[in-house]
Amino acid sequence: MKSIGKIPSHIGIIMDGNGRWATRRGLPRNFGHKEGVKAIERTILACLKYGIKYCTFFAFSTENWRRSQEEIYGIFSILRDYLSDPNNIFMRNKIKVDSIGIMDPFPEDLINSINNLKENTKDYENLTVIFALNYGGRDDIIRAVNNLLSSNKQKVTDQEFLKLLDTKEIPEPEIVIRTSGEMRISNFMLYQLAYSEMFFPKTYWPDFNEKHLLKIIKEFQKRDRRFGGVH
Ligand code: IPE
Ligand code: IPE
Ligand code: MG
Repeated sequence: MKSIGKIPSHIGIIMDGNGRWATRRGLPRNFGHKEGVKAIERTILACLKYGIKYCTFFAFSTENWRRSQEEIYGIFSILRDYLSDPNNIFMRNKIKVDSIGIMDPFPEDLINSINNLKENTKDYENLTVIFALNYGGRDDIIRAVNNLLSSNKQKVTDQEFLKLLDTKEIPEPEIVIRTSGEMRISNFMLYQLAYSEMFFPKTYWPDFNEKHLLKIIKEFQKRDRRFGGVH
């Protein structure tokens, strides 16, 4: 592990720009999604190198069902191939895999490949990689509220509510990165990112690499996080 000063424990990544990356090269959009997997691998290796404990990749939002069947199934098949590779980065590096979101509407082979990987890596502690799959921040909150309504609890605190969200015990992300230059949250972890530091690099996701991540961490180290207080 390489020591570079204060390190965030959790980084959330809104991987955006795969489609534009491909279109700019005259390629079908799914080529961008395929290339995006390489950026996920580079980012995971960088997280290991710098000692980041949790990294969440927003891979499919509750709104992404609005895309064409061809694109949606292309994304599913890329994810399935990636996550079912027996020589995967997770087993090789003792990385725990987790997921947030509701996978039920996904094809069975994809659900199985993720569940197998979660099961096979559940005791690993080097890093936890969380895939947000059919995830929406509003859906996360609404499901938590509905769970509360069907329980006999009358009241919850902020800290108790956090534990009812899909992220449960996972700390709130100190850093949220959205690539491609778009400056919006697009329904990612709405409750959990109340005090996250936001970064919007212009790079399309398939071009994202360790250098971009390191630059963001350095910038994060310079930010004055006041949490509403005064220094
Ligand atoms: C992000 O890239 C990947 C997913 C949402 C699955 P996009 O596919 O949104 O790429 P752009 O924004 O169209 O370039
Ligand atoms: C956000 O990207 C969702 C994921 C990265 C999975 P989108 O490309 O779907 O978001 P919008 O449509 O630009 O807001
Ligand atoms: Mg997009």
